[in-house]
Amino acid sequence: MGTMDQDILKVLYTEKQIAARIEAMGAEMYRDLEGKDPLFISVLRGAFIFMADIVRACPVKSDVEFIAVSSYGNATSSSGAVQITHDIQQDITGRNLVVIEDILDSGNTLYFLKQYFLTKGAASVAVCTLLDKPSRRAKAITADYVGFQVPDEFVVGYGLDYCQKYRNLPYIGVLKPEVYGGA
Ligand code: IMP
Ligand code: MG
Repeated sequence: MGTMDQDILKVLYTEKQIAARIEAMGAEMYRDLEGKDPLFISVLRGAFIFMADIVRACPVKSDVEFIAVSSYGNATSSSGAVQITHDIQQDITGRNLVVIEDILDSGNTLYFLKQYFLTKGAASVAVCTLLDKPSRRAKAITADYVGFQVPDEFVVGYGLDYCQKYRNLPYIGVLKPEVYGGA
């Protein structure tokens, strides 16, 4: 057992459960996206691992882009203001986009990004999120593809961080409250 594992209170989804869910999501997305030349846009950094797995589970002719937005810093709740810190590198006019996110929480990030991409001329913007925390929604936005609905708990692993750590855990878990001072 690694030292990171000792900070985990409980495992919500194992590596195997995540892989099986992504397999099913990829197949569903393939049925919708085949022939549409989609552009997958991953939101850095949290979605980097999910991106790598979902694009391989959805074998449609496509290309990939990455966008980075201002994050929470070291807090566990959203400020509401979203800023782009690294933009996509190509013209998206007329493209069918699929935004790949790790978690849909308040919705501030995806609400902002959806408007942003539509303003730039995208033909469509679908949202694919591994996790959905609907209880915390502040903006009217829903995802087109959802891996798992999670309860209102702060989760880490499989790309998701706390203070930039735990992203490389292969599973998704809940941190012990004492780790983030929430005890
Ligand atoms: P939103 O803008 O509030 O929907 O938040 C989206 C971003 O907040 C995600 O891309 C994550 O980076 C971060 N986030 C929200 N909830 C969690 C969590 O439980 N664990 C880790 N990061 C989270
Ligand atoms: Mg993120």
